[in-house]
Amino acid sequence: MTRVLSCIQPTGEVHLGNYLGALRGWAQGQHSVAGGQRDAFHGIVDLHALTVTEAPEVVGRATVELAAMLFAIGLDPDIATVFVQSHVAEHSQLGWMMECTVSFGELSRMTQFKDKSARRESEFVSAGLFTYPALQAADILLYDTNEVPVGEDQRQHVEITRDIALRFNHRFGETFVVPKAVTPKAGARVMDLQDPTAKMSKSTGSDAGLVNLLDDPAEIARKFKRAMTDSDGEVRFDRASKPGVSNLLEILAACVGEPPESLATRYTQYGPLKTDAGEAVVELLRPIQARYHELMGDRGELQALLRKGADKARAVASVTLARAQSAVGMLPA
Ligand code: TRP
Repeated sequence: MTRVLSCIQPTGEVHLGNYLGALRGWAQGQHSVAGGQRDAFHGIVDLHALTVTEAPEVVGRATVELAAMLFAIGLDPDIATVFVQSHVAEHSQLGWMMECTVSFGELSRMTQFKDKSARRESEFVSAGLFTYPALQAADILLYDTNEVPVGEDQRQHVEITRDIALRFNHRFGETFVVPKAVTPKAGARVMDLQDPTAKMSKSTGSDAGLVNLLDDPAEIARKFKRAMTDSDGEVRFDRASKPGVSNLLEILAACVGEPPESLATRYTQYGPLKTDAGEAVVELLRPIQARYHELMGDRGELQALLRKGADKARAVASVTLARAQSAVGMLPA
């Protein structure tokens, strides 16, 4: 069995790019047994979000909303383990041991820290922002994770996790499974509707170019109607010379499950393509939004689902933590 761990920070609304690019794959992957049994853990990593959040209650709200969204997109609590990182105290506990296993020099070389701390300029740069990869190593190693599907920006953090695991095993004896980074099965590449050469992103994009999963149908239709195209008037799938039109085709393709090239042959004008892409997204999101609002209206149910996830996560994590503590020779409580 292959244990797979994916984690996501609760830092705001989930958008169409997140969904079609990655999250939909999480939901689809949970039932697939092709290529062997997979056992998926999904952490909502609120402790990681604390590295940059300041206002009280922001993290909690974002956590509950993200949890509702993960269940709404179809993660099945009977199959996948969806849990909140801070509900499983072992993350903080092993995190400290990881901080003591990684060096200051190694953490100093993390490009994400260098970028993020430089961007924060005169703002507060927490020590947590610096030691964050140690906590991430704990997240991964606690679950005897074999595979961590990550994008390019997180590869270095999985590499440092491997280094930490190997060093710990070398110093204290075989304790951790050494994980590897894998490239997630490619979903759709959704670009900003107003700047179709840039990926849809909540940190860099404009409001008009970004479709949130909770946008209402009128808003979605409006955003698609105003999507940036080009002036040659021909509908063709060609990312390099027609990024806007190709983005609309790719989104429509992801919704209806047909290749963008064949969809292109059905249109002679941009207007109907924009309308259809918008409508397809509305239909795709309709059941997700319904389930989301249902769960948000039933906090008891949501809490029960998260308790169940945390219990399943803790059952694995506590065994690993105990193994690590015993390897180091800490005095049992
Ligand atoms: N650092 C990751 C990000 O910013 C989130 C993350 C935390 C993570 N712990 C993880 C990802 C463990 C994979 C595995 O996106």
